[in-house]
Amino acid sequence: MIKLGIVGTGGMANAHALAFKNINEVEIVAVCDVIEDRVRNFAKEYNINQIFTSFDEMLENCELDAISNVTPDSFHKEIALKSLNKNKHIFSEKPLAENFPDAQEMYKATLNTNCINMVNLSYRNSSGWQNLSKMIQNNELGPVRHVDASYYQSWLTCKYWGDWKAEQKWLWRLSENHGSKGVLGDLGVHIFDFASYPVGIINKINCRLKTFKDKGEKIGEYILDANDSFVSMVEFENGAIGTVSSTRFATGNVNKLDLKIYCDKGAVSMKFDDPITQGNTYSICTDINATSPNNEKGLDWKTIKTDPTPSNYERFIHSIKTGKNDQPDFKRGADIQKILDSCFISSEKDQWIDLNA
Ligand SMILES: NC(=O)c1ccc[n+]([C@@H]2O[C@H](COP(=O)([O-])OP(=O)(O)OC[C@H]3O[C@@H](n4cnc5c(N)ncnc54)[C@H](O)[C@@H]3O)[C@@H](O)[C@H]2O)c1
Repeated sequence: MIKLGIVGTGGMANAHALAFKNINEVEIVAVCDVIEDRVRNFAKEYNINQIFTSFDEMLENCELDAISNVTPDSFHKEIALKSLNKNKHIFSEKPLAENFPDAQEMYKATLNTNCINMVNLSYRNSSGWQNLSKMIQNNELGPVRHVDASYYQSWLTCKYWGDWKAEQKWLWRLSENHGSKGVLGDLGVHIFDFASYPVGIINKINCRLKTFKDKGEKIGEYILDANDSFVSMVEFENGAIGTVSSTRFATGNVNKLDLKIYCDKGAVSMKFDDPITQGNTYSICTDINATSPNNEKGLDWKTIKTDPTPSNYERFIHSIKTGKNDQPDFKRGADIQKILDSCFISSEKDQWIDLNA
C-alpha cells in the first residue's frame, strides 16, 4: 500500500482525494492545510485520520511514501524540495513553479533521488489526445506544417462559474500581487503542453499579452493587473509553425480546448470542455486525393473513438510501483515554464524569443 499525504485542501484537492481514493493501492493517511477548519472538514469528508496545519510537521511525524501538492503556485517549489529531500515521491499541481529558474531547480533536485515526480497537466487525461499525439509523434501523417491551439474560458464576460467581481477565488487570479501570472500562467501552461507534446519542441515564440484595464483597475485589495488574454506565434524545431492563444473573454465557451494539427498527409483535430467525458474522440482527415469537396458531406473527416487512458493520478501511482517515471514529469514542467517566461519577455520587448539562446 502506498501511503499518501495531501497538502492544500482547497478546491482542486477534492479532485486529488477522489482520484487517489479510487486507486486500490493507495491509502491517503494524512492531510495538511494552513487553515485548520478547512483541513478538518476535508479530513472528515474523505475519512482521513491524520491532520496537520504545518507541512514540516506532517513530513516529520507521519510515515509517508508520497506527497500530493495542491497548494497555490507560490508554495509548489518549497513543498517539492522538502519532499524530495525526505525521499518522498511527489505529485505537484501545475504550474510546476512561478518561473523557469525555480522549476529548473525543482527538476535538478529530482536527479539526486529515485523519487517519482509528476506535474498535473490534467488535459493529458484525454484519451483522444493521447492517441492523436502518438500518431503525430510516429509521423503517421507526415511532417507537421501548421498548428492551431486555443484554450477559451469566459468568466470575465459570463456568469457560468459565478461573479468574478464578487469572489476572492476569481479576484486573486487577476492580480499579480496575489501570485497570479494571469491567463498565461493559469491556462497557457495547459495549452502549451497540449500543443507541443504531439508536435515537438518549440524553438521560437512571439507573444502578445493583454490586460484590459477598462474592466476595472482595482477591487478592494486586488489590483487587476494580470493578463486576461494572450496570442502567440510559435516555430517548432521540426519546422512547423503555429498559433497558441487563450482568453477569459471567450463568451460561449466555458472551458474549451481546441487543437488542430495539419500535416502533409492529413490533419487531426479535437475540441472539448472536459478531458475525460468529452476528450475520448478526435477527428481525422486524410482525404488528400479528393479532387473536389463533396458538397453533401464536406471533406471526409472521420471521428475516432478512443479507449480511456490512465489518468495522471494513476500514472503517478503506477510509476511508483514500477520505478519508471511516466510523463508529465518535472523536466516537462520546467520546459513548459521556460515557454511561459519567454512569453512575458517577448510581450514586454515586442520581439521574437529564441528558446535555445
Ligand atoms: N490541474 C488543473 O487543472 C488545476 C485546476 C485547478 C487548480 N489547479 C492548481 O491547484 C493548486 C491549488 O488550486 P486551488 O484552486 O485548489 O486553490 P485553493 O486556494 O482553493 O486551495 C489551496 C489551499 O492550499 C492551502 N495552503 C496555502 N499555503 C499552504 C501551505 N504552505 N501549506 C498547506 N496548505 C496551504 C490554502 O489554505 C488552501 O486551502 C494551484 O496551483 C492551481 O494552479 C490545477
